[in-house]
Amino acid sequence: MNAELKVDFPDTVHAVEWIGDAASGYLKVLDQRLLPGIETSLEARDVDAAILSIREMLVRGAPAIGCTAAYAMVLAVREAQTSQSDWRERLRGLADQIKAARPTAVNLRWAVDRVLHSLETVDSARALAATFELALRIHREDIEANLTMAELGADCLEAGAGVLTHCNTGSLATGGHGTALGVIRTAWEKDRISTVFASETRPWLQGARLTAWELNKSNIPVNLIVDSASAALMQSGQIGSVIVGADRVAANGDVANKIGTYSLALLARSHGLSFMVVAPFSTIDFEAVSGDQIPIENRPAAEVFNIAEKRVAAEGIDAWNPVFDVTPADLIDWLVTERGVIHKPNTEALAKVRSGT
Ligand code: MRU
Repeated sequence: MNAELKVDFPDTVHAVEWIGDAASGYLKVLDQRLLPGIETSLEARDVDAAILSIREMLVRGAPAIGCTAAYAMVLAVREAQTSQSDWRERLRGLADQIKAARPTAVNLRWAVDRVLHSLETVDSARALAATFELALRIHREDIEANLTMAELGADCLEAGAGVLTHCNTGSLATGGHGTALGVIRTAWEKDRISTVFASETRPWLQGARLTAWELNKSNIPVNLIVDSASAALMQSGQIGSVIVGADRVAANGDVANKIGTYSLALLARSHGLSFMVVAPFSTIDFEAVSGDQIPIENRPAAEVFNIAEKRVAAEGIDAWNPVFDVTPADLIDWLVTERGVIHKPNTEALAKVRSGT
């Protein structure tokens, strides 16, 4: 196969993957809701199925959502070009539906807009092939960014200390390798960290189900903690850093990430530990001046009431279930992107990375 038309995965965990060619192929999405017990995938052959896979969290993690959205645009061009109406107008409608699948991860909007923009100068006859090539490029670029960030981030860690990570930021959450988990993988290989702790990440248990599963597959020992053990872990002296990913970084360096990240940043600061955020450039939203302009997704109360779909909470109550929070930039020591590492991120430092100066 033409090298341009394939993705070289860095490991065996593939959150999303295109199977076949642009005209008749499909998007294969690993169903992360069922991990670690069952490994099964959805074959998304139309836009609705691709949207469902994002909304219902078969695929999750900002960069993996971005890759899925890019492939969903292949399905969208295919669908739009078979409709009776003006296909470009139909495509814009489908693009809006894809962008609405989940609100916080900016990689979703970024990938869809990148495809739409690229199609402005492409003939109708080339549109499907061009979208397919761009979707694969977006996927490959994400893997390359992760591998670069892994090296850069690993070098910033204090050698020999333990680390705590939150949520899942590995191959399951990205095109491959991972952001924060990519740094941890590479740092482990380089013998720069002593112990890895993962927080279980209620309510969806990305840490207990997904991060622990991925680290196991990579033969990296992991200690799972309940979310409420993080302060005691820091007090115990077993870790030197907290390393997390991001769903959206505002222009001033404020970071939206999985609920609980803000508490970890506050705790890390009060224990004198370093707090590192690892995110590709595609996760930075320069239109959001600060974190208060980032939309935060609220998910159903049932996620709080239930564990593994079994009700454990008392009946007759309400819940508040924001699934992300915003960590102010001044609590972040390192923001690692593939374009470089920012120590103490702020508006000026991010603008410099953007302009490449
Ligand atoms: O709700 P999720 O599982 O999509 O949330 C994922 C996270 O918060 C991750 O930390 C973030 O997307 C970075 S993934 C590389």
